Amino acid sequence: MFKNLKPVIAIDGTAGSGKGTLARKIAQILNFDHLDTGKLYRYLAHLELKENKKILDIIKYKNKINFSEINNLDLRTEKISSSASIIAKKREVRDFLTKFQRNFSSFPPSGNGSVIDGRDIGSVIIPNAEVKFYIDANLEVRSKRRLKEIESPEKNDVLSYNEIYKQILSRDIRDKGRSESPLKKTKNSILIDTSFLSPEEVVTRALGEIKKVF
Ligand code: DC
Repeated sequence: MFKNLKPVIAIDGTAGSGKGTLARKIAQILNFDHLDTGKLYRYLAHLELKENKKILDIIKYKNKINFSEINNLDLRTEKISSSASIIAKKREVRDFLTKFQRNFSSFPPSGNGSVIDGRDIGSVIIPNAEVKFYIDANLEVRSKRRLKEIESPEKNDVLSYNEIYKQILSRDIRDKGRSESPLKKTKNSILIDTSFLSPEEVVTRALGEIKKVF
């Protein structure tokens, strides 16, 4: 009945578009497992900074990379965001993470299915996902959301709206313009522009589309 071993919902989109929030909520509702693939790139960027080594030298020893600490680290700093987007341009880095992502989709811990969000899930990693979304919002809205997020007291990045706007813009340009697996909307993915929608409205819209398939 399904095209994949276990059903997969692929959610791609720009930074700050709300794709992560949507993925988390959909996974909860459907009792599927959520994989935030941005965290994998962020973790490799974190290792590069921590070990002060080039990422290609780090992934040479692939077996030693253990993603289990990924949820215990603050990987959402602007420095890591930019570094992640820079190392994500490298073919070797993308190939290294491909296997991990496909394996997660075939064997999600719950055994039910997965919701995977990133930049190339519907285009490269799982092109035949059961449902594919492309989430976007205008740059001003995304910058404001990010500003609100990092204004929380536990964050130590103090950035102005203009700095955030510029950083998100350069990340968009890098993520969409790279030659390896650029961020793009595939023909059969469903576009949701979240600029003027609440998170709940986005979930309702996405669930409506998922129900058409499941
Ligand atoms: O989704 P995010 O903002 O946490 O991702 C951080 C960076 O990682 C993003 O700017 C580009 C890269 N990335 C990618 O190239 N492919 C993915 N599937 C996920 C993230």
